[in-house]
Amino acid sequence: MKIGLLGFGVVGSGVYDIIANGTALELRNIEVKRIISLVVTPGFEHLITKNIDDIVNDDEIELVVEAMGGLHPAYEFVMACINAGKHVVSSNKHLVSNYFTQLNEAAEKNNVQFRYTPSAGGGIPWLSTLKRARRSDEIEQIWGIVNGTTNYILDSMVKDDTDFSVALKEAQRLGYAEADPSADIDGLDTQRKCIISANLAFDVVIDEKDVPAFGIRNITHSDVSYFEKNGWVCKLFANAGRNQDDSVYAYVVPVLLDKFEIEAGVASNYNCITYVGKYVGRSSYIGQGAGKLPTGNSVVQDILDTIFDDASLKREYKKSAVNNAMVAHRYYIKTDSATPELSEIIEKDEGDGRYITKPVSIECIQKTAEGLFEKCPQTFIAEIK
Ligand code: HSE
Repeated sequence: MKIGLLGFGVVGSGVYDIIANGTALELRNIEVKRIISLVVTPGFEHLITKNIDDIVNDDEIELVVEAMGGLHPAYEFVMACINAGKHVVSSNKHLVSNYFTQLNEAAEKNNVQFRYTPSAGGGIPWLSTLKRARRSDEIEQIWGIVNGTTNYILDSMVKDDTDFSVALKEAQRLGYAEADPSADIDGLDTQRKCIISANLAFDVVIDEKDVPAFGIRNITHSDVSYFEKNGWVCKLFANAGRNQDDSVYAYVVPVLLDKFEIEAGVASNYNCITYVGKYVGRSSYIGQGAGKLPTGNSVVQDILDTIFDDASLKREYKKSAVNNAMVAHRYYIKTDSATPELSEIIEKDEGDGRYITKPVSIECIQKTAEGLFEKCPQTFIAEIK
């Protein structure tokens, strides 16, 4: 099969290397025919073009890998390829979470496959597993670490006493971080992966604006020392699940875990993602959540599934509101500010601007957070598990 690559950055070049150099029998008949890239990498002049029509109008290209990132022109390029009858594999969580319905519907209409396993979990076959799980089981909850960059930062701050900004730079150098790393440290990358996972797990289509996301931008060494004293480890979690009334909750927040929990020991850029099924119980997956070859390998697996598999895993997804009113937790809040909303929910004042709240809903903490961030942008909030 001849394929086209949209994007030749970290993931795109990983896909190319695996296809060009991999020795597995299955890879033998796959060839990268064209690459869309704004930069012409020496040695690839014969493959690189800036013109999407060179791929869209090439009937020999049957499958296109989108690894450009961002919404535009990725959406227009992918739609053009699908409408031209080409299968698409995307690693772009921003695109998949925002255009979930449009892309799936267009693929169905054109009788092609649209796969996106690498868009959440990096090298972990998380989404393909979730899709299989849904065939027989009922997913009750999903949670876990789905962002390699923030896990790398949090781990380095604890283990090597590294400063936040130094650890972030290293995560960028290693190719884990997004082009604009705010998406990682403000929880938006985790939010997108949470949405895609929740859509698959619960047959819904949820909207970014309904999924609150707290990040780790404001965590400091003094927070980390305080957590260590209490036997806690901080990790950034995606959370989603079914409420008792069948509605779905979904949110992103740093969590404070007992140091003996599985996720507390997850190091470096690794992800650890869990689903709880009615029949299978807890099922957790650990692996590299970001990086050139792990994510590239996940793309190649989706290419092989497109070639060898049928498309029998199709489902109907319904547009759905998010209901975060029914999930309650205690929170750690560190802030220089005070608001009436905060006073109402404090259970313990730990001094130095640190508070432990009573159990409150996500909705309540979101409302409290808005007031606090307005007065003190350095506020840090984490859920206590
Ligand atoms: N920036 C992302 C992360 C890349 O750090 O997890 C993989 O999706």
